[in-house]
Amino acid sequence: MITGLRSGIVQGELVAATSDRGSIFSQRFDRSVFIAYFLGAIVPLLALAFVVQQFVLPEMPDSTAVIGLIAMVCSIAVLSFLAYLVLRRSTGHTLLRIDRDNRRLASLLENSQTMTCAEHAGDIAARSVACAIDLSNARAAYLLVRGKDAELSPELFDSAGSEADAQFQSARTHLLAQADWVIENGQTAILGAVNNALENRPAMIFLPLNGEEGPLGVLVVVRGEPDTPFEPGQIDALTTLASLTSVAMRNADLKDLQRNFFSHMTEILVSALDAHLGYHAGHGNRVAQLANRIGRSLDWDTQQLQTLHFASRLHDVGMLKFDRNVQKSPAACEKHTAIGARMLARIRLWENLAPIVQSHHEWYDGTGYPEGLSGDEIPIEARVVSICDAFDSMTSDTSYQIALPFDAAANEIRDGAGTQFDPEIAAEFLKLFEAGEISE
Ligand SMILES: [Fe+2]
Repeated sequence: MITGLRSGIVQGELVAATSDRGSIFSQRFDRSVFIAYFLGAIVPLLALAFVVQQFVLPEMPDSTAVIGLIAMVCSIAVLSFLAYLVLRRSTGHTLLRIDRDNRRLASLLENSQTMTCAEHAGDIAARSVACAIDLSNARAAYLLVRGKDAELSPELFDSAGSEADAQFQSARTHLLAQADWVIENGQTAILGAVNNALENRPAMIFLPLNGEEGPLGVLVVVRGEPDTPFEPGQIDALTTLASLTSVAMRNADLKDLQRNFFSHMTEILVSALDAHLGYHAGHGNRVAQLANRIGRSLDWDTQQLQTLHFASRLHDVGMLKFDRNVQKSPAACEKHTAIGARMLARIRLWENLAPIVQSHHEWYDGTGYPEGLSGDEIPIEARVVSICDAFDSMTSDTSYQIALPFDAAANEIRDGAGTQFDPEIAAEFLKLFEAGEISE
């Protein structure tokens, strides 16, 4: 039987946590110092002064006054030294506790930042179990997630610790049953350190990972030293870790939904564009492949490569506004960039694509359209798309032109460097072409 954290009840062999919440730092420091100082210095001094004044001095001849004074000084010295020892011991313990709390807090903060930025649930789970080991000196930590079918037991998602595999194999049924209970009830459960009914298994804590619609899973931590329960500070830190893990996993799920939505929305748009530009099917995807090679060759980061990818695939999206029989008209050519940019600028997560789509027909020497931008005024992604767009257009068969061989198209890029195309990006393109990375 398991008892919940909040119940604070001790039942049978299982010990429920009575979590002493408050600051993660110890608040006993000031009180300890004050008590030690008061008992060790103030109280004895007052008592000594009282005794000397009332009983010793009135009876004492002059010759013994010096001895009495020396005895009093020695007594004060001894008492002060004892007070120092008590204070040193007390503050030593307190500082150790503060140091442990500090290290836990630092570990939580560092892992929290990493988990918040993680894109995938797998990365979060790996970080969470590693942090659980770090926080509690545990021998094993597991992250179990609720199965797709609510009737089934939770599934092991990730684990960490020197004895994680062996421990899981030996206690699999037990662990899954307890985790199932925690998911069902949404409460933390702690098993005591010594438990004959559980064959002297070490202390374990089961923390629910709460989602919007009930627990997503359970973080299980198995204590490191046999027969040693979790400390209150460890329970607090692990509870905080479980909360951070829950939030990070929900965020990762949202990011996954977002990626899924954009990936499929882009597919739908690109398919519609391909069908609409019948003479040029697959153009967006081919431009994206070429642009990706150039972006990687230029050591762009993931974010910039992603922007380049979507901008490449959607650079002619403005053509959707034009009827098929006017797509090659001067009006359509002139306006499709600005129209496409306006379409994308309305979508907040795609608004950064708008300037690229707007400028993909600008020329490096300023003679392009729609704004006649030149050089660095043109977004660098647009300068990449411009080369890839031109190369794919030249090497594709359409109803109005026969495809050029790749060599001839590469020569056109070479000839246009510095006028139509950015010379540095054109050089990068030609370097890839000559290395055989862009071939038929
Ligand atoms: Fe275009």
